[in-house]
Amino acid sequence: MTFDIKKLNAHFAAEVTGFDAGAEMTPALIDFIEDAMAEYAVVVLPGQNITDDQQIAFAAYFGPRESASGSASGDPSRKNRLPKYLFDAGNLDFDGEILAADHPRRVMRAGDRLWHTDSSFNPMPTKWSMLSGRIVPPEGGNTDFADARAAYDALSAEMKTRIDDLVAEHSIWHSREKGGMTDFTLEHEQSLPPVMHPLVRTIPRSNRKTYMAGAHASRIIGMDASEGATLIQELSDFATQDAFVYSHKWRTGDLVIWDNRCTLHRGTPFEDLKYKRDMRRTTIDEYAPSWAAVG
Ligand code: OGA
Ligand code: MN
Repeated sequence: MTFDIKKLNAHFAAEVTGFDAGAEMTPALIDFIEDAMAEYAVVVLPGQNITDDQQIAFAAYFGPRESASGSASGDPSRKNRLPKYLFDAGNLDFDGEILAADHPRRVMRAGDRLWHTDSSFNPMPTKWSMLSGRIVPPEGGNTDFADARAAYDALSAEMKTRIDDLVAEHSIWHSREKGGMTDFTLEHEQSLPPVMHPLVRTIPRSNRKTYMAGAHASRIIGMDASEGATLIQELSDFATQDAFVYSHKWRTGDLVIWDNRCTLHRGTPFEDLKYKRDMRRTTIDEYAPSWAAVG
């Protein structure tokens, strides 16, 4: 299976032309995407004019889909304007109009502007996200990506030894608070309690070591809270230095896949009271966390 592959950064991210994500996948096509993701961690598929159903079907070839309903959509009604398996990352309301300036979902999505890993506040490790650009603004609104594998490789030997066996706590309320949301309730908090993930892990298929220190990571188990927070920030800053970052400028029809286990990403500003941005995301888990497979 050969497609044209163009690297987008010295360390990671590639654009693949000629691939049709709306088609039925064969084992060879699935392998091609799995291999490309193992190598590049971010894969851009341009020109995908796919329907919601096609996007949802494509995701299912690669892992169990995360349900977006009941996710923290920021809407008090907890309703998603999109089908169950599509997360709404755009700025549109139920009628497809630009969200009002005071809409609660704006505050909720503000956390997306922080460097993060999708759904690391869930107990199951989130494998990939696939974001489809249905309507994109003429300027701004890039999505930035950072390669945490390259960052891990570049850490000092002392730092690697320090962090290799640490466990981090992740909570969505931590990142929402950092993003400026203050009015969440106990019910909110209890609906998504904190979870723990290894800070450092090896990704299957690529066999590369990486770390997960995005905005949902709140503290390090067994470490003083402020020391843990400082370490998480230091690791996040290290991974997001320019050399490890690819900034994606969206074109209508782009489908961008990223590996949440070994990259960080963030949304960037655009004139969101003026331009529509309709972005729909499928997100998949691993079938089983690789560290659970020890005998
Ligand atoms: C996401 C996300 C940022 C963006 O969909 O997970 O963080 O630029 N999106 O839309
Ligand atoms: Mn995200």
